Amino acid sequence: MKPDGNNIKIAVQKKGRLSEFSLEILKSSGVDFEIHQGRLFARCRKFPLDIIFLRDDDIPEYVQDGNSDLGIVGSNVVSETGARVVTLDALGFGRCELSIAVPGKSGLKKVEELEGKRIATSYPNILSGFLDEKGIRDVNIVEIHGSVEITPSMDVADAICDLVSTGSTMRLHELVPIETVLESEAILIANPDTLSEGWKLELVERLRFRIQSYLRARKTKYVMMNAPEESLEKIRQTLPGMKSPTVLPLAREGLIAIHTAVPEDQFWNVAEQLKEFGATDILVVPIEKLVL
Ligand code: PRP
Ligand code: ZN
Repeated sequence: MKPDGNNIKIAVQKKGRLSEFSLEILKSSGVDFEIHQGRLFARCRKFPLDIIFLRDDDIPEYVQDGNSDLGIVGSNVVSETGARVVTLDALGFGRCELSIAVPGKSGLKKVEELEGKRIATSYPNILSGFLDEKGIRDVNIVEIHGSVEITPSMDVADAICDLVSTGSTMRLHELVPIETVLESEAILIANPDTLSEGWKLELVERLRFRIQSYLRARKTKYVMMNAPEESLEKIRQTLPGMKSPTVLPLAREGLIAIHTAVPEDQFWNVAEQLKEFGATDILVVPIEKLVL
């Protein structure tokens, strides 16, 4: 039984790459909340959930220590802190790479050439593990929090190791990535004790179910089309979507309407084939939730 007035807590990034989508996921899960500027806490109305806004670097430890039950954060931050948390789900957004980059003018091409040089980063643990594995031992790791990309131009470092998402930060500072250290995306993490406490686990599972329904829906489109009746079998075999499409008769004889869900990344391949089989008026609409 949930104790009165007790909510589960989720920590999300206050400001940065993951903030907007983290809130979108929660909003779409029907946990009604408002954010007041400068406030670090929001209590939800339709679900016993409190949202805590933190610097992303602080989220893993906050969850590990039980100050928050859940967190949405980049897997890179969890790796760096080595926090003891459980990864529940990969959320499929916030994809980026932790890369070693050098000034374009430096002429450096390979990470081996950084022997004896300085690399600035906010990820000293991941970087030193990586360099160790490569057998590159004589590197001076300069630990910096924030604005790592300006360190080469200030002669604080010869290279940097930082996140690349769109790549625009690196381009703006004339830095060229030469090596990928780690791939990362946003993940949902949990405190291990949260998962062994009955009422909390139940709420966590309900929230996960909603999040999954939203993430699935985002990746899927609802497709409606008209087609000649005799093409039905071929069209059915082309559609990678749900178990069985809906087939409706149309007023004009010999024509049918077919409705089904199609994964977005396959849509264009499918659409081309559908046209070949005589489908017309192909209508594509977004799906808000997809509950299986
Ligand atoms: C990362 C990184 C860069 C930026 C790269 O910041 O530190 O500043 O994203 O993105 P781009 O390739 O699209 O330009 P993050 O949002 O993780 O925030 P933080 O470094 O301040 O924690
Ligand atoms: Zn950060």
